[in-house]
Amino acid sequence: MRINDVIEYIDRNSEEFLAQLIEFLRIPSVSTDPKRKEDVTRAAEFTADQLRLAGMTRVEIVATPGHPIVYGERVEDPSLPTVLVYGHYDVQPEDPVELWESPPFEPTVRNGELFARGAADDKGQVMIHFKSAQAYVQTQGRLPVNMKFLIEGEEEIGSDHLDRFVKENAELLSCDAVVISDTTMFSRDVPSLCYGLRGLAYVQLEVRGPNRDLHSGSFGGPVDNPAQVLARMLTSMKDQDDRITIPGFYDKVRELTTREREEFARLPFDAEAFKKDLGVQALAGEKGYTTLEQVWARPTLEVNGMISGFVGEGAKTVLPALAMAKVSMRLVPDQNPKEIEDLFVDYVRRIAPQTVEVAVTPMHGGRPWVASLDHPILQAAADAVEKGFGKRPVFQREGGSIPVVSTFTELLKVPTVMMGIGLPDENAHAPNEKLDLGHFYKGIKSSAYFLDILAKKRDEVE
Ligand code: BES
Ligand code: ZN
Repeated sequence: MRINDVIEYIDRNSEEFLAQLIEFLRIPSVSTDPKRKEDVTRAAEFTADQLRLAGMTRVEIVATPGHPIVYGERVEDPSLPTVLVYGHYDVQPEDPVELWESPPFEPTVRNGELFARGAADDKGQVMIHFKSAQAYVQTQGRLPVNMKFLIEGEEEIGSDHLDRFVKENAELLSCDAVVISDTTMFSRDVPSLCYGLRGLAYVQLEVRGPNRDLHSGSFGGPVDNPAQVLARMLTSMKDQDDRITIPGFYDKVRELTTREREEFARLPFDAEAFKKDLGVQALAGEKGYTTLEQVWARPTLEVNGMISGFVGEGAKTVLPALAMAKVSMRLVPDQNPKEIEDLFVDYVRRIAPQTVEVAVTPMHGGRPWVASLDHPILQAAADAVEKGFGKRPVFQREGGSIPVVSTFTELLKVPTVMMGIGLPDENAHAPNEKLDLGHFYKGIKSSAYFLDILAKKRDEVE
């Protein structure tokens, strides 16, 4: 294998790769929006086309009760190591659309950054592996290892149908390692590999009071106010130290080891820069834990949105009949989303006053994941990122969730390498999402180096 030819191909085709990524990003594949179902399917078809272009010899679009799963593979030789790349072609909703500097589905390059919904999360990141494969097949006529791709369309809504697919197709997906690029690096100057993700339990909480909206003058007082009941219930879920008060919530939380705390503390985290970037004067969070510990290794409870009563311009005197909040809880090993959901429901029932009716609707969830750093494949990945980015990566955990990762660990029983090339300021899930194009190309090269190193280290890695 002539890795130099592969790298040169990547350099020569950078404009073409960007043009294809732009085409991918034009498809508004918002998985949560039923009106976008056809667009989501189009994105699956685009993904399948990309896999064919990358030289995959078997490509299938698998229908599910939700959005399709795209599978592709190229098996060069069963005795070679096999890498399974996972990623997602679905994206988050674009709203609030008025805050975008250029329209979310009209990708625009400004100062070396590509702005579009999905640029970093995750279309740009899955693309790096399509392109490294393509570079091998085009220049060498083959891949240095066997490759499988599993690219889904429901990651942003909890991967509801993927676990079943993985369970039923464990043989098809058998591999020596899973590779995922759907996380961020520590910072622009500090590349990293991620070895832990938080889990998630997401619920909708509704508080119903009177059978209709009421005049607040005629009824306020004797009739309890659902907006205020909801607010009271939500504030009672955290104490003054930002610890969650739901009984049993921390029972299964695995405490950080002294070693891990020391390692986190050694990372060049700049609290001042962090605050400045976010435009906040001071930080909050669970007492006794540093910012990185809070985000990576401690559970949290967040209100994602609330709605109740009159929120239009001007004033209207009304006592709302209904109040609703969406609440997410990020979980850490060994918390279980279903158990946490049940604890939440029990707690809400216990604290709800008799003046209202409450309902909790579970939305989606995912299990937390943390890997051991001992596997040699992580060193291979670190070598590859070092070659691609010119700097040795650090190991870090992340606060976000990718629900299927723990399923891979459990069912495929192989290590997962999280080779994210995003940046903390990429604005994922927010207006002006962007991808650093330098990182995009370095990511393609890192992926190419990774395959090369794996092929050479095959005895160690298997
Ligand atoms: N790419 C993210 C996961 C992520 C976010 C990793 C931040 C590391 C840091 C992924 O697309 C995502 O957003 N996942 C959802 C999952 C949820 C809907 C089950 C998340 O974390 O909110
Ligand atoms: Zn996301």
